[in-house]
Amino acid sequence: MSEQNMAQGAAPAESTLVLEAALTPPDSGSSAWDNPLRDPRDRRLPRIAGPSGLVIFGVTGDLSRKKLMPAVYDLANRGLLPPGFSLVGFARRDWADQDFAQVVHDAVREHARTPFREEVWQQLVEGMRFIPGDFDDDTAFKQLKSAVDELDASRGTSGNYAFYLSVPPKFFPKVVQQLKKHGLADAPEGSWRRAVIEKPFGHDLASARELNRIVHEVFEPDQVFRIDHYLGKETVQNILALRFANQMYEPIWNRSFVDHVQITMAEDIGIGGRAGYYDGIGAARDVIQNHLLQLMALTAMEEPIAFDAGSLVTEKMKVLKSVKLPEDLGAHTVRGQYAAAWQGGEKVRGYLQEEGIDPASTTDTYAAIKLEVDNRRWAGVPFYLRTGKRLGRRVTEIAVVFQRAPHSPFDTTATEELGQNAIVIRVQPDEGMTVRFGSKVPGTSMEIRDVTMDFAYGESFTESSPEAYERLILDVLLGDANLFPRTEEVEESWRILDPIEEYWATHGKPAQYASGSWGPGEADEMLARDGRSWRRP
Ligand code: BG6
Repeated sequence: MSEQNMAQGAAPAESTLVLEAALTPPDSGSSAWDNPLRDPRDRRLPRIAGPSGLVIFGVTGDLSRKKLMPAVYDLANRGLLPPGFSLVGFARRDWADQDFAQVVHDAVREHARTPFREEVWQQLVEGMRFIPGDFDDDTAFKQLKSAVDELDASRGTSGNYAFYLSVPPKFFPKVVQQLKKHGLADAPEGSWRRAVIEKPFGHDLASARELNRIVHEVFEPDQVFRIDHYLGKETVQNILALRFANQMYEPIWNRSFVDHVQITMAEDIGIGGRAGYYDGIGAARDVIQNHLLQLMALTAMEEPIAFDAGSLVTEKMKVLKSVKLPEDLGAHTVRGQYAAAWQGGEKVRGYLQEEGIDPASTTDTYAAIKLEVDNRRWAGVPFYLRTGKRLGRRVTEIAVVFQRAPHSPFDTTATEELGQNAIVIRVQPDEGMTVRFGSKVPGTSMEIRDVTMDFAYGESFTESSPEAYERLILDVLLGDANLFPRTEEVEESWRILDPIEEYWATHGKPAQYASGSWGPGEADEMLARDGRSWRRP
């Protein structure tokens, strides 16, 4: 029985039947899948990928080693991949299949979430192939085609392949054209082909449109899966559960009760070895354009008519389209750059001293912006979004901060220490939710102070959360597009960010902030001007 079903305490007889049905992949056409006991909407059952393979371009990169390879192993270890699953690496390295397998092995040993099991590894390794070559090397793509055909025959992958482009966007056109040219983009009858694309989806609206155009010349919209790994995080998906599976939050989730919303994604690390990627991109393009605007859309959207990709995108798009920028971008946006300082007992370099960074760079490593969602539910409620590298600690959270009670029968002295009520969704690292409200301090006087009530994933559930990439790779193999932003969302998000970036490009430089602090003082002033302050998570 799966961990999930055990936790649900399903009755043994029925669960055996249900599990049999669940273990038979939908693509197999088996009648067990049509088991009448199985409600196709029952998402508690383990969702297992049907016969398929994954081809990773850019397989020697950091993302592949730290996230993709371990995620594939973790999925296999959890029994969520088909027995013949195949993994093909493509890169400019003079490797044989065994060398590639060794790299995957080391990556799994170092980064996998679940324990290493030799039998799982042995099954996986039999389906590993490596194709050495450049993206414009026709011979390499011919070899890839042969590898896919051979795996179809030897491992039963049934022609079902996802192509994961873990490469800089400048290579997208070449790779998709090569896939097309060598007959890899077209699915044979009864099978599927999908393209998985990593961010950044462009640099601005114009380049995003161009990228989308190129990709859609080869792949249909429903074949393209754009990764925003924040959507794969359990806590992010829980925003929808919290809001729409309960009765008690929605009635107050609007301008009549909410004072403002703060969305924070803080990192304590610097840019590490990513100078080449990061410089010229900066914090706002790197994470506000995608992760933070997605978090905002999920927080602000109306209830979707169903939990499916089309309904979700409809509601998220309404939010993104309603986003209004402040007129005075100078007063309501802030960007910063981390400066050398002591952080956690270590003297760290400033951004401008990082290896590979132009000492005159004006790239932002911190960004804070104020947005409004101009609709009936949210009119007048500011959404403050901030992110930064080398901040005080790693934390991502959404804080919905409520207005003060309209009237209080207590003395003002009794409520001096009472703040504003808040619901805080803790995305990471301490996944859960906090509700903050006022409570009487024990004693003879009527003194009221803030207290918190906590829900922690770790305490309420026995199973640990899968990594975002596990969930998203599985969804790609299942063809489930719920957690993938669509073209129009990506473009709409650039529409929001472009004017801010243009303003910054022509107005001064980022403010410096000490590494280990909570960002530039200008960001505190930005909120103080509105009579508010940032949370110190
Ligand atoms: C990525 C950004 O999308 O998200 C990185 O490119 C950032 O700069 C990372 O460090 C953070 O992801 P997580 O899951 O660690 O919060």
